[in-house]
Amino acid sequence: MDQAEKKRRVARAVAEFIEPGIRLGVGTGSTVNFLIDEIAPLRDRISHIVASSRATEERLRAAGFEVSDLPPTGDLDLYIDGADEANKHFHLIKGGGGALTREKVLAAAARRFVCIIDDSKWVAVLGRFPLPVEIIPMAQAYVSRQLVRSRGQPILRKDFLTDNGNAILDVHNLVITNPPEMETRLNQIPGVVSVGIFAQRPADVIMIAGNSGVRRMDRNLSART
Ligand code: A5P
Repeated sequence: MDQAEKKRRVARAVAEFIEPGIRLGVGTGSTVNFLIDEIAPLRDRISHIVASSRATEERLRAAGFEVSDLPPTGDLDLYIDGADEANKHFHLIKGGGGALTREKVLAAAARRFVCIIDDSKWVAVLGRFPLPVEIIPMAQAYVSRQLVRSRGQPILRKDFLTDNGNAILDVHNLVITNPPEMETRLNQIPGVVSVGIFAQRPADVIMIAGNSGVRRMDRNLSART
């Protein structure tokens, strides 16, 4: 089965989480694009839908949704998004599409975060995928030097600005053995807007598509075993 078919299947499987009246946050990327196709017929069940990027917003509008800002009171019920890497602690690397900052806001603002991936994203240790770091453009030289001190090789993403008007450094060759610690440390560097490690707010559920079907893993259950 090819990767696109796995993404389609995991997107279809997550429709079970769309309960009537839900306030839903929607991530960014090719897996989420399949999700938007799946949830379009469920529009009437969704009371409030928030997008993590302009690309997702446009796609949701094209599918007939009225897209909102974050609600002024109360959390989102659910945030659904893909990832570039995931590990058994439900820590993620995200930001391959450059939407990490808004994705982090929606993940933080949601009571439940369901991550949908195909099995190519599953790793023992995060870092094979270059870590995206969103930075204020004028801080590039300084932040790059600090990232080199953390043993990474930052490369400026060419001809790319985020939805927030910022730049992305893709940091190669990191071995992220302690994702919460590295997330906190890199977040402290002046000029960094956000870091693509999602460990302080990990996924609650990972749905992973492989050749034999879609497997669901729940963080609370795995903590007990
Ligand atoms: C977007 O900025 C990313 O965080 C995506 O969630 C991630 O790149 C997954 O993308 P795909 O679903 O296209 O693999």
